[in-house]
Amino acid sequence: MTDYTVEFAGTGETITVSDTETILRRCIDEGIAQEYSCRVGMCLACSAEILEGDVVQPAAHGLTDAEKEQYALTCMARPQSDLVLDRGSYPPSIEDDARDATAADD
Ligand code: FES
Repeated sequence: MTDYTVEFAGTGETITVSDTETILRRCIDEGIAQEYSCRVGMCLACSAEILEGDVVQPAAHGLTDAEKEQYALTCMARPQSDLVLDRGSYPPSIEDDARDATAADD
């Protein structure tokens, strides 16, 4: 088990997360106000842009393969290095989902 530092850009919040736990799990335990909903990698509510570092998130099904390089779903992502994350930053595909929902309402 290896511990990494996860810093949240703009807030000054920094937590230590092991490579065996998700970033969201540690945020909840540390009282960090990370949004989430489904906790299974589908809704994108817990998204954060990766400004520095790497994560592993094989079950982040809500992201495209390209988005997995730039965004972390914190409910699924485990650090593989020290990280700097921009919490509440969402991938472009979330806009597609919103448009699909609007079209379905018509
Ligand atoms: S809480 Fe839904 S994708 Fe993470």
